[in-house]
Amino acid sequence: LLILDGRASSSAMRDGVARAAAFLRSHGVRPCLAAVLVGRNPASESYVAGKRKAAAACGIDSCLYRLPQRVAQSKLSAILRRLNRAAAVHGILLQLPLPHHLDEDMAIDQISHRKDVDGLHPLNQGYLAAGRPAFVPCTPKGVMHLLDFHNIPIIGRRVVVVGRSRLVGRPLALLLVSRHATVTICHSRTRRMADITRQADILIVAAGKKHMLTSRHVRPGAVVVDVGIHVLRPAGRPARFSGDVAPSVRAVAGALSPVPGGVGPETVAQLLANTVRAAAGSLDPHAARTFEHSLLHRL
Ligand SMILES: NC(=O)c1ccc[n+]([C@@H]2O[C@H](COP(=O)([O-])OP(=O)(O)OC[C@H]3O[C@@H](n4cnc5c(N)ncnc54)[C@H](OP(=O)(O)O)[C@@H]3O)[C@@H](O)[C@H]2O)c1
Repeated sequence: LLILDGRASSSAMRDGVARAAAFLRSHGVRPCLAAVLVGRNPASESYVAGKRKAAAACGIDSCLYRLPQRVAQSKLSAILRRLNRAAAVHGILLQLPLPHHLDEDMAIDQISHRKDVDGLHPLNQGYLAAGRPAFVPCTPKGVMHLLDFHNIPIIGRRVVVVGRSRLVGRPLALLLVSRHATVTICHSRTRRMADITRQADILIVAAGKKHMLTSRHVRPGAVVVDVGIHVLRPAGRPARFSGDVAPSVRAVAGALSPVPGGVGPETVAQLLANTVRAAAGSLDPHAARTFEHSLLHRL
């Protein structure tokens, strides 16, 4: 069983990001990511802290805007507008999910598409659908890098993606089609899903259902990527993680991404890559050309 090691692949990506950040700084641009966190969701708190720590390690500045759980939509809009205007801020990370009283679509639409490092703005999603990617959502981009890093061929392969969210499944299917895979998307209304997933050379699961994918869904030797993250936080003991893929799959798959240590670290690295890409927009034209020729292809 080949383990698709996201720590190794993302570390290579972070080296490229650190080099790009050093170049930006030496040309007077301090790359900066602004995180907006609403309420006190422990998972969101830990994701944002992890992203900021990883940013600092690569030479990217970050700042955190904390808003109370019951914040009004108008207040959130005002902060997003302010960050859109702030020349020193290059990327805006609005940590989702938002509390239920807030309109997530409205907030995403208000982020400048040039600072939309999560790739969720409709303009960036539209560019991706048109085959002209701009800012691509971090998890799908991370899955592609994880496959490439481990030399998994994609052209002509039959790929099944379980999940069709705008954050993961949908953009991932588009990226795979652009890379000449033959792609099928499954979702909660799919019938006889195992008949479909068993045809996959590469099976990617982003359903958000713990251990839902079992050995009966997998063709022997298939490459399986587990995007799911489920965190158990027993009182007084360290957190335990599991994914959407059940342990029984290990006996059947040819390659498997672990949880933790698979797609998760890739997602963070891709957020940083998108942030330095956004910051490169502030370079003077000469430096921007150098950036494009020598650093951009690593991001
Ligand atoms: N590793 C990372 O860095 C990372 C990043 C983002 C997300 N995640 C994890 O990835 C998972 C998916 O995230 P998401 O944001 O895409 O979740 P989501 O918005 O809840 O979407 C889940 C998708 O899975 C489909 N689905 C649900 N149950 C299913 C079933 N029994 N059979 C087939 N399809 C099913 C849903 O179908 P419908 O459309 O029909 O409802 C939906 O399209 C979650 O566990 C999340 O925590 C991990």
